[in-house]
Amino acid sequence: MTDTAAVSAFEKLDVEALTSEQAETELERLANAIAKHDKLYHQDDAPAISDADYDALRRRNTAIEARFPDLVRDDSPSRNVGAAPSEAFSKIEHKVPMLSLDNAFNDEDVQDFVGRVRRFLKFDPLMGALAVTAEPKIDGLSLSLRYEAGALVYAATRGDGTTGENVTANAKTISDIPQKLSGDAPDVVEIRGEVYMAHADFQVLNQRMEANGGKVFANPRNAAAGSLRQLKSEITASRPLKFFAYAWGDMSALPADTQMGMVEQMKVWGFQINPLMKRCETVEELLAVYHGIEEDRATLGYDIDGVVYKVDRLDLQQRLGFVSRSPRWAIAHKFPAEKAYTILNEIDIQVGRTGALTPVAKLEPVTVGGVVVSNATLHNEDYIKGIGQDGEPIRGGKDLRPGDTVQVQRAGDVIPQIVDVDLSKRKEGAEPFEFPSVCPRCGSHAVREENPKTGRLDAVRRCTGALICPAQATERLKHFVSRNAFDIEGFGDKQVDAFFADGLVKTAADIFTLEERDKQSLTKLRNREGWGTVSAKNLFEAINAKRNIDLHRLIFGLGIRHVGEGNAKLLARAYGSWQAFYDAMVKAHDKNGEAWEDLNAIDGIGHIVAEALTEFFAEEHNREQLDALLAQISPKQVEQIDSSGSPVAGKTVVFTGALERMTRDEAKAMAERLGAKVSGSVSKKTDLLVAGPGAGSKLKKAQGLQIEVITEDVWFDLVGA
Ligand code: IVH
Repeated sequence: MTDTAAVSAFEKLDVEALTSEQAETELERLANAIAKHDKLYHQDDAPAISDADYDALRRRNTAIEARFPDLVRDDSPSRNVGAAPSEAFSKIEHKVPMLSLDNAFNDEDVQDFVGRVRRFLKFDPLMGALAVTAEPKIDGLSLSLRYEAGALVYAATRGDGTTGENVTANAKTISDIPQKLSGDAPDVVEIRGEVYMAHADFQVLNQRMEANGGKVFANPRNAAAGSLRQLKSEITASRPLKFFAYAWGDMSALPADTQMGMVEQMKVWGFQINPLMKRCETVEELLAVYHGIEEDRATLGYDIDGVVYKVDRLDLQQRLGFVSRSPRWAIAHKFPAEKAYTILNEIDIQVGRTGALTPVAKLEPVTVGGVVVSNATLHNEDYIKGIGQDGEPIRGGKDLRPGDTVQVQRAGDVIPQIVDVDLSKRKEGAEPFEFPSVCPRCGSHAVREENPKTGRLDAVRRCTGALICPAQATERLKHFVSRNAFDIEGFGDKQVDAFFADGLVKTAADIFTLEERDKQSLTKLRNREGWGTVSAKNLFEAINAKRNIDLHRLIFGLGIRHVGEGNAKLLARAYGSWQAFYDAMVKAHDKNGEAWEDLNAIDGIGHIVAEALTEFFAEEHNREQLDALLAQISPKQVEQIDSSGSPVAGKTVVFTGALERMTRDEAKAMAERLGAKVSGSVSKKTDLLVAGPGAGSKLKKAQGLQIEVITEDVWFDLVGA
């Protein structure tokens, strides 16, 4: 574990070996480091160290405090939870503090926990079994929801445990959070639980962010936190957040007398509760649940980082009470991080279709969490150096050198990462890695462009040999035939590499002239190794089947920077035909013209995407290649939706406020299916505003413009869904 902020000479010493003076210095270092990481995690949603490393810092702090109780600092992390709330949101003081959980890291710790509880309660075996619940520890961020007379009054983040941030408007956009409790409820109900993002939703969101030229989130937890803590609730509404209820705060009455009973009541009130929660009577049962959940972890579809055990009886919870920051009646049994040490054999440079030079760590194969890992991402050259262009150490960056002993981590299905380097094992004379300034494939200069706005260099170095670089050409072709583009059966990466190497397919157009050329050729495809009459015929058929391609697949397949699938669909829908799209893109190069304005006016298309598009079409060579391609294929017109029977066809619709029966994305997709255009803002062009609870400025504006306003229910009636 390394912490660049404060390195003390004693941080490597065992707790048992510390003198009182050294312990004091260590406690100060730990308090500062933990506070810093708390802020990064809770306020900036940008953790700089792994959860395991963070836990290790806290554990060390606790261990030193246990040995030197007199040295416990006033600002000790053991006395605080999380970080102070951000200034950007109004503050809400929690009526009942939102505390944290103590951690168990192995079976013995769990045994100790149950033993401690029993001793505290003097609950001897004669008194029967001590029931304890076990449930997944969701890796999201906690939220407290206050209901009065059954209606949601506010939602607050944990903040520092005492005061949180008011995120009510945002929480109201989450469909798992009821705005009214179902059935009977006490006057005051405070439900606590976890806001999280499912893996599938996280991936789609990141693709969307990337395609729009935005930053991507490192993991679902950060995505959930970043989405909930938005200043504009419309943004939160467009993010697929979910919520599990598992605890409570202030309650005017308790509807049950056990943890399990309380959670079951939450379900009745309309919350999602975790289906894996179990009630156990022995430590063995708890551990069996833990290992069962650990085994199923990869298939749950959302991130969890352990299992939480809670004493079931509320009267016992009451008696057990709290110690500093956590309840005595609960503990989080954390999963071991999936990590392992191995050797970084070499650093390989891959060249992508846009010319980006991406360093990849070639590792001595090692098993991490049951999977053999031999590659890890290294992001970019600054990351390898561990120093940014301003000379400052960069977050997460390591000074990595070939031959180093490194620790790799696998988290969920993300690409393995290097989380640590063991400098004590560095071989003498190990040289820093020299990042190439020429493309390893074509020898062209590889440069880091300067961002004209910030004056900073792009983190990515790119090959400048766009048209002559074979790596870029093959990567572009692979993208062109990929699943969401032309999706040509039997034409994958392997075929691209082989045909390219033999000069058979150099451009996309070549794919479609392959059969014709094959007829004239003496070296027929069917005679090549690995091919036969049938497979060659099948390939030509598969190619021919794609001459009539969906317009959005063609646009996506071109591999224009920042134009992902989502943007390709937006463009196809907006322009309707290839010719209209092509003409508009060529014209839009003139930034004073109407075509540029129209392009930027497409809902969802930002400046960066618009810029990338017009640059692509301004390049003569690209237009030549497109002309050759379009001589071979005839993209479909975008189907004009049959407007008979759809009362919203051709209309411009705006959704605002909280939607209760569908997510914002669903609403948009539904309206578009019915031939409507969905816009994010109200203008004279708006025909219809669908307003849910909490609608504000858009509703006012629509009323001012005398635009028809309907509720979500009326919308469903209208479209007959
Ligand atoms: S119970 C008084 N149950 O873990 C204790 N917490 O490290 C109330 N968490 O702040 C918390 N899943 O954000 C509880 N099933 C679960 C949980 C859970 C995730 C989070 C929660 C809490 C943190 C403590």
